[in-house]
Amino acid sequence: MNVVTQLRPEKVGTLTVTQLQPTIGAELGGIDLRIPLSDELRDEIKAAILKYKVVFFRDQDLDREQHLAFTKQFGPIYTPPYSANKPIDGAPGVHQVSAVEFTKREAEYNERFKDEIKEYYHSDTNWRLVPAWGAVLRAVDVPPFGGDTVWVDAGLAYRELPEDVKERLEGKFVTVDFRDALLKTGHDYPIVSHPAVRTHRETGEKILWVDFGKHPKILGLDNADSKELLEIVARQYSRPEFQVRFAWRPGSVAFWDNRAAVHYAVRNYGDYPRLLERLLIADEPLWADL
Ligand code: SIN
Repeated sequence: MNVVTQLRPEKVGTLTVTQLQPTIGAELGGIDLRIPLSDELRDEIKAAILKYKVVFFRDQDLDREQHLAFTKQFGPIYTPPYSANKPIDGAPGVHQVSAVEFTKREAEYNERFKDEIKEYYHSDTNWRLVPAWGAVLRAVDVPPFGGDTVWVDAGLAYRELPEDVKERLEGKFVTVDFRDALLKTGHDYPIVSHPAVRTHRETGEKILWVDFGKHPKILGLDNADSKELLEIVARQYSRPEFQVRFAWRPGSVAFWDNRAAVHYAVRNYGDYPRLLERLLIADEPLWADL
């Protein structure tokens, strides 16, 4: 007998919450993101983000200004230097995730870094000592199929590591090297390192936190040992059991906890000029200025 489990939206306060995977990802409904949030509704959304690590909204008719207004309700916008240099229509903080721009750099990048691990799971602005806590990504022009984004529950990925791997990662720091890209925008910032296993400051959860898009290297290990251990991390992130995969449609918005999940953009849409716009939310002032 076939058993069909239906996704059932659950009512949480004023929101409807449809959980997508056992620990990560939920679609939030019953809300129009153009309308200013009450404090209660804002707190419900924030609680859902802490719980599900990434939440999705469908069929939202947001323009850039409304995207900014929605995001600002969760904290100050962080403007990375590469966006500050070319504000989109004068709007600070808007970063265009553009396949056209990416394609221009892709061949040279692949050639230069051909020996690196190609599982590009990453988090945003972790080249800083204190990265943005949240990110809100809005579909602008998305392919009819392909171009999904995958988020990984980096807490579950950590918990499910074999004990000997946890021991090998204990106390280790991993570099995040974005200098090349930053220097091109005239921004000089040192190479930072973060603990490979980080404690989330709001939930207390231990998070496996490596960025494969920014040339990671485990400090204190030689190159071969570092790569071998990083390959284990990359394989862990790649396990579908820890992931949620989101198919973009016009009107889709994703909002994630950048400290709890890593993500991966699936590039399987040929030369479609996929375009999304992303806003980042700075961490609390005590941490944000570092
Ligand atoms: C991002 O890396 O912030 C964007 C993800 C995507 O293009 O799907």
